[in-house]
Amino acid sequence: PNRYRTVHLQRAKDEGRRFAMLTAYDFQMAQVFDEAGLETILVGDSAANTMMGHATTLPITLDEMIVYAGSVVRGTRRAMVLCDLPFGSYEVSPQQATESAIRLVKETGIHGVKMEGGERYVEHVRMMTDAGVPVMGHIGFTPQSENVLGGYRVQGRSEGAAETMIREATALQDAGAFAVLMEMVPADIARQVDESLRVPTVGIGAGPHTTGQVLVWQDMLGLRAGKMPRFVRQYADLRAVVSEAVSGFHHDVLEGTFPAPEHGFEG
Ligand code: KIV
Ligand code: NA
Repeated sequence: PNRYRTVHLQRAKDEGRRFAMLTAYDFQMAQVFDEAGLETILVGDSAANTMMGHATTLPITLDEMIVYAGSVVRGTRRAMVLCDLPFGSYEVSPQQATESAIRLVKETGIHGVKMEGGERYVEHVRMMTDAGVPVMGHIGFTPQSENVLGGYRVQGRSEGAAETMIREATALQDAGAFAVLMEMVPADIARQVDESLRVPTVGIGAGPHTTGQVLVWQDMLGLRAGKMPRFVRQYADLRAVVSEAVSGFHHDVLEGTFPAPEHGFEG
């Protein structure tokens, strides 16, 4: 397809195929991911952590998300670009959510939004979808609620959790959500949710049975410092690559071996 759309993700689910998603926050990374053929790119509010150094996702604003989202969209030709509704931009009412979603679409050109929360937000999903904005739900661990959930922990371990998770996911689907993302959910529960839903699911720390998989790029490419979450597979060690390159440049400048004659201009 020229541009991946919800219909292609639905077709993947219908035909038993998978799709992949990475976060991106800037033009050039988005370009690389798009050229690599990723079906979907997420402008996550994890930008609060990865790009801005905040300890949680709570401080990032809609205006800041708009800067990242516009940059990512300009780097893509084929990927479907989704953007998180940040904390404070949707909770109060379906109207608030829809106004935020419309701003994102209008000012950045994203193709859909992702919103944390389940059943409680079905009216929000309905109004945004009716307004023409595809919505991906996000259940399980929802980082914007970490103060209520008691920190980063696997969700769905209590009695009856599978039924609850299926109910939440189904409510989002029935309200019009084109997909439901699950974060840090036991693999067996994620499988049951995927099997119960008509629409595709996306997982992060949710096992292998979801339709799609998503990772934060700085985790996946090893730019992040410190301990990786258990659910990450690290495909590169960018932190070491970049660090060595910067040291090389630093060394050459101090030694006077950079710039060389070929880097200069004749008068
Ligand atoms: O903000 C984000 O990066 C996310 C993904 C990890 C799902 O919401
Ligand atoms: Na997010």
